[in-house]
Amino acid sequence: MAHIDEAEINHIRESSDIVEIVSSYIPLTQKGKNYFGVCPFHNDHAPSMSVSKEKGIFKCFSCGATGNVFKFVSDFENISFAEAVQKVAEKIGITLKSQITKPVVKKYQEEYQIMNFTSLYFQNNLMTERGKQAVAYLQKRAFDESVIKEFQIGLSLENNSLYELLKTKKYPNQKLADLGLISQKGLNYYDIFVNRIMFPIHDLHGETVGFTGRIYLDNSTPKYLNSKETYLFKKGNILFNYHRAKDAIRLEKKLILVEGNMDAIRMYASGIKNTMALMGTSLTTNQINEIKKLRVPILLMLDNDSAGNLATFQIGTLLEKEGLTVLVVRLSGEKDPDEYIVKNGIEAMQDNLKNAISFLEFKLAFYKQNKNLQDGEELASYIKEVLNSMKENPDPILKEITLKKLSDDYGISYSVLKEELEKLATPTISFDPPVMEEKKVRKTKWMDGINHILYFMMNDTKYLFMYKSKLGFLNDATYRGVANEILAYYELHKTINLADFLSYAENSKLKKEIYEIVESIKEENMDEQIMEEYIISVKKIMKEKEIKELKQKLKLELDSAKKMNIALRIQSLKKEV
Ligand code: CTP
Ligand code: MN
Repeated sequence: MAHIDEAEINHIRESSDIVEIVSSYIPLTQKGKNYFGVCPFHNDHAPSMSVSKEKGIFKCFSCGATGNVFKFVSDFENISFAEAVQKVAEKIGITLKSQITKPVVKKYQEEYQIMNFTSLYFQNNLMTERGKQAVAYLQKRAFDESVIKEFQIGLSLENNSLYELLKTKKYPNQKLADLGLISQKGLNYYDIFVNRIMFPIHDLHGETVGFTGRIYLDNSTPKYLNSKETYLFKKGNILFNYHRAKDAIRLEKKLILVEGNMDAIRMYASGIKNTMALMGTSLTTNQINEIKKLRVPILLMLDNDSAGNLATFQIGTLLEKEGLTVLVVRLSGEKDPDEYIVKNGIEAMQDNLKNAISFLEFKLAFYKQNKNLQDGEELASYIKEVLNSMKENPDPILKEITLKKLSDDYGISYSVLKEELEKLATPTISFDPPVMEEKKVRKTKWMDGINHILYFMMNDTKYLFMYKSKLGFLNDATYRGVANEILAYYELHKTINLADFLSYAENSKLKKEIYEIVESIKEENMDEQIMEEYIISVKKIMKEKEIKELKQKLKLELDSAKKMNIALRIQSLKKEV
């Protein structure tokens, strides 16, 4: 971010049309002055997002997502703010004066260089005389030369050949060990990967960060050897094939998740490019967050065994809890998608994908396993299991459908099912004493007032001047900090508008707080009269707070002259309130 000059950012923002840019991602329809679309940042059904050409801002009135054109692009594409600035500049044909480099690449430049070099070395090995058997193995598995090229498949050899080569490049041993390429035993270093077919693993940006190596000469274990966790390779943050698949995922509006790297490679190479692999059967919070950002339904097609079945249930449940739409394909006959395609062809696979079932349908079948639903007791326990699994699901429509289906399938009254579910889902209610309630109302009123005042100030200098002349101070360090940022922006630019102020906010320590304020404002009305009312209300609450504090002080004060002073101050404050 520091690389792009703020004036340049503002120039690009002014030269771009937010409506045009946003409509290159989601369809918008005009209603009056504003444009509306289905919000891509939450599970929206109605068009809740409005885009204002005039203000250069988008805002979702349902989830609160808001910001300028760069924020939209960076959130949508899952790229940094600086990258979004560059992207918008490209779209409107402006060449940036400042160069943007991916900061992460810079930090570990040599490490990435080593990983790339190693990958090229492995790839080259495969093409030599010593790679013949490995190539034959790959061919037997129907991975041809183009797949080998595209997935940068390689080969590791014996005799510490990688280490010997890297040594000539004078890389420090410690660094190579930290990268998980060699290990130390006594005074000597050894290659970690020996006689394995090597697949580079990339991070989300497409940088090579690790390897997975498969045996091919015999049946020794482990079948796959993966890079250890390093500062580049964090398995829990990575989805295999993410960087290749992500564009296809947006186009197809679907993400297919498979277990094995080989499955993802087979799918991708067969033209089903919107596929990523879990590299096993678990899914971390970080991976879920990355998946969420893609904002598409997820199709789970895990291995055709009991572990894959259980993992489908567990992962589907996690994803659904996050509000994502989940579909399921359970293959039959072959062990995994790779073998399925090799045996049955790509069309058969396409048919399976077309016939994917909803996660609900999968779940109902999953709970049914090993149960005799003719038996009343087993049926009751089945229904309870299903209801229990639904209680945390955020989607009311899905709940409705499930209840209806259970009711139809088993002849149980819909209202009884609904009542049961409500009982299960009722959160424990905490009772605040009435005094606390009042305090809370006051506090939210105060926050609401300040949020509005600060929001108004970000929008127009006239409100900024009103703040300076009529309020001037906020008795809360965070809000005061935000006010100071707004005033600092004004000092720098002698003008203010929300869209540019938000670019500025990208570098502020209070970025999060600034966005919280902007997101909290649900209505568009702004005028001096309204600002005045908020100022009066906030002032009053601040004074009441001060009176309270002074009263406390009065109690503790021993000096009678000082006591008098405090009392007078309280009196005058009371008059003002
Ligand atoms: N895996 C692993 N270590 C192992 C076995 C498996 O890390 N010893 C991970 C790998 O990421 C692998 C995934 O789990 O891709 C799925 O394992 P499995 O189904 O056994 O592998 P396949 O993808 O079927 O591999 P192949 O077809 O080559 O046997
Ligand atoms: Mn397999």
